[in-house]
Amino acid sequence: MPTTITIDHAAAVPEEVPLVAVGVRSGALAEDAPGLDLDLAELGGFQGKVAQTLVAATDAGPRLLVGLGSDPDPTAYRKVGAAVAKAASRSVAVAVDALSTLDGSERVAAAEALVQGLILGTYRFDRYKQPDPAPVLESATVVGKGGKRVADAVARGIALADAMVLVRDLVNTPGGDLTPKAFAQRAEQVAADHGLEISVLDKAGIRKEKLGGLLGVNRGSAQEPRFITITHRPEGKPRGRIALVGKGVTFDSGGLSIKTAGGMEGMKTDMAGAATCLAALALVPLVAPRLEVTAYLPLTDNMLGPDATRVGDVLRARNGKTIEVLNTDAEGRLILADGLSLATESEPDAIIDLATLTGACMVALGDRTAGVMGNHDGLRQRVLDAAEAAGEAMWPLPLPDHLRKPLDSEVADLRNIGAGPYGGALTAGIFLREFVGDVPWVHLDIAGPAGASAAYDEVSKGGTGFAVRTLAILLAGWSRLPAE
Ligand code: BES
Ligand code: MN
Ligand code: ZN
Repeated sequence: MPTTITIDHAAAVPEEVPLVAVGVRSGALAEDAPGLDLDLAELGGFQGKVAQTLVAATDAGPRLLVGLGSDPDPTAYRKVGAAVAKAASRSVAVAVDALSTLDGSERVAAAEALVQGLILGTYRFDRYKQPDPAPVLESATVVGKGGKRVADAVARGIALADAMVLVRDLVNTPGGDLTPKAFAQRAEQVAADHGLEISVLDKAGIRKEKLGGLLGVNRGSAQEPRFITITHRPEGKPRGRIALVGKGVTFDSGGLSIKTAGGMEGMKTDMAGAATCLAALALVPLVAPRLEVTAYLPLTDNMLGPDATRVGDVLRARNGKTIEVLNTDAEGRLILADGLSLATESEPDAIIDLATLTGACMVALGDRTAGVMGNHDGLRQRVLDAAEAAGEAMWPLPLPDHLRKPLDSEVADLRNIGAGPYGGALTAGIFLREFVGDVPWVHLDIAGPAGASAAYDEVSKGGTGFAVRTLAILLAGWSRLPAE
């Protein structure tokens, strides 16, 4: 397992730490780093902009200066944490003194974000590499007065970042190793660690439950599918009951409607939705203990073995609707049909699904923004507000009426693709809506932001952990939805 660094919290800069980073606001270099040679700092190009770094002498001794900008918000503090983690990556330990200019509640939010930046900024997926003999950053001390409130914020930051690291690890693990069975084993560990209920259906169980979409996608595979249900059940009457549904395609070759070589390259990422739901469940006991939350995770790869689903085959989903498969590469919606049906049967207050569903969503919004669709305006707005608070880019997309008709099939209840080349993300959303009945539901298409083609800020190349923070904030602040 790639290790994350150990974080602790102290009210003042500890004496024994070899490297101390100091936050410096732009326009306040002399004040925040007393004794700094301002001419030298200028020569080094250091102006205190967010996440700029410079090692310099100060009255307090040598310091790693890190820019805070003029009015840093939590997103800036995540970048600051990551910049420190990178600049200090060859020191064994670092102390970060960057919260002193903030007042109470600002300091709490900043501490949490700073911790996330430190952990996420040191993330490396090195399980398959030769060991690196050079020293690496092992621990960081977050310096800041504020007692228990700040200490709790640090603990929350660690938990959130660890959950994102879990998603990154799962996403980055090759599809040949992270089979549905291996994913389920990891989920069982997570459930044991966090006191969650879990049930795992194997192929026979999936057949018994009539999950025809999942079986259809799995038909070309040598790997058995799995269907995971994982629940946090509070003591006493829950404050709300939420269902999460995550697309768990452990590798998407496209099936018989095979992808191009280039199009297949990133397709071990196609289980990011399921991984994100699992990570969110791990956080529920901490952030929303009074809620009942269940994640429904259909898992399979999408392969083209000798008995693979043929183009034109008809599948029957859990809720009884039949689907004519006209493109085996539109497989995510087939397994989600079963997951959403099961979630709907449990009559939750809301359903949120997460899926790396369409390239079209990336065409529409770029590769860092998720598309947010749904059948309930209030719930969709809540998700967007949570994303804003989390510093994660999400944007609303419509489900226009005229895109429903092209999903009508001559032989079944639905086709799995629309008619023309336009609006593919919306067509997929309209397809999913067929499986949620009247339950308030939001669909997050995370095809773009679930993976990064290069590292930036606290984001590493590959799996990102996108949407974990949004879900944590949404669940933490949950209250009953008004009817619409
Ligand atoms: N997993 C892909 C979507 C995807 C593409 C995710 C790029 C991440 C990056 C999905 O299963 C898929 O293949 N979608 C098709 C749908 C089409 C056949 C209607 C697509 O987007 O091309
Ligand atoms: Mn596909
Ligand atoms: Zn896919």
